[in-house]
Amino acid sequence: MLPNHVRIVEVGARDGLQNEKAIIPTATKIELIDRLSACGLETIEATSFVSPKWVPQLADAEEVYAGISRKPGVDYPALVPNMRGYDRARAAGVTSIAVFTAASEAFNQKNINASIDESIERFRPVLERARSEGVRVRGYVSTVLGCPYQGDVPVSDVVRVSKRLYELGCDEISLGDTIGVGTPVKARAMLHAVSHEVPMKALAVHFHDTYDQALANILVCLEEGVRVVDSSVSGTGGCPYAKGATGNVASEDVAYMLQGMGIETGVDLDKLVETGWWLAKQLGKPTSSRVTRARMGEPELS
Ligand code: HMG
Ligand code: MG
Repeated sequence: MLPNHVRIVEVGARDGLQNEKAIIPTATKIELIDRLSACGLETIEATSFVSPKWVPQLADAEEVYAGISRKPGVDYPALVPNMRGYDRARAAGVTSIAVFTAASEAFNQKNINASIDESIERFRPVLERARSEGVRVRGYVSTVLGCPYQGDVPVSDVVRVSKRLYELGCDEISLGDTIGVGTPVKARAMLHAVSHEVPMKALAVHFHDTYDQALANILVCLEEGVRVVDSSVSGTGGCPYAKGATGNVASEDVAYMLQGMGIETGVDLDKLVETGWWLAKQLGKPTSSRVTRARMGEPELS
C-alpha cells in the first residue's frame, strides 16, 4: 500500500554543504534555505552545531540561522553532537534538533570520536533538556546498510541502536545508508526489522545514492510503510568521515517520483528544479539530479 502523503526532509543545506571542499559563503547558504522554503518543503535541515574543527564547512551555523527568513509552519532542524552544540543551537533560536550516532562502532569512532554507548551517554542530557524545553528531536542512525570501515552491519545492531534512541526520547529515527550501498530487498528487510521495535510512524529513511539504488530503496520502504523520506536538493551530500560516501538521493528525483505516483508532498517541483539548478551553479559542478538535467538540458555527467 502506498501513502497519500509523504514528508520530504530536505537535508541539502546540512548534509550537502558539510561535504563540499570549498567553504560556501554564508549568504549562499541562507539563500538556499529561503529558496527551499519557497518550494513548499515542510522540513529543511539548516546546519550543524558541531565542532568547527571537525566540520569547518558549517562553522557559520549561528550566522546562517540568524539570516534565514523562517516561514511559518516550516521546521528548520539542526544537528547537535553534544551539550555544547545544544546550547549553541538554542541560543541561535533552534527549536528542533537532530542527534546522530551509528550502527557501526568503527564509523562512529571516525565521525564523532566516540563509541555508540559513549555517544548515547552524551545525548542523554541533551534529550532531557530538549524534552523539558519542548524541543523536537530526531535521532540519526548511520551505516544501516553497510559501513566503509567495518563492511557489513548486522540488522540486529541497527534495531538495537534505533530502539535505544527511541526509548531515550527521540521523536523520529532516521535510518541512514551513509555510503549508499543498500539495495531494495536488504533495505526493506532492515526497515521491517526496525519497525518491530520503533513504530513505523516514527521512522524515516535517508539514502545516499552511490550505486544509483536510492529511488528503488525508497519505493520499497514506502511499500513497507515509511512516510518520511530524507533527500538533498541537486543530490549534494556525503559525510566527510565516511570514506566513499557520495551525495544523497536528489530531492527533485524523489519529488518527481512521488508526484508521478500521485503522492502528495506539498513541493512545487518546478521551483525545486530551479533551486537545484541554481545550487549546482553556485557549487560550480553539474547536478546529479536526473530530473533537473532532463528539465534544464544539461549534458550527462561525464
Ligand atoms: P572531540 O575532538 O572528540 O571532542 O570531538 P572535544 O570535546 O575534545 O572537542 C574538540 C574541539 O571542538 C574542542 O575545542 C571543543 O571545545 C570543540 P578545543 O578545546 O580543541 O579548542 N567542540 C565544539 N565546538 C563547537 N560546537 C560544539 C563542540 N563540541 C566540541 N558542539 C565531536 C567530538 C562530537 C565534537 C566531533 O567529533 C564533531 O563535532 N563531530 C561532528 C562530525 C560530523 O558533523 N559529521 C557529519 C554529520 S553525521 C552525517 O553526516 C550522517 C547523516 O547524514 C546520516 C547518514 O547519512 O548516515 C546524519
Ligand atoms: Mg547523510
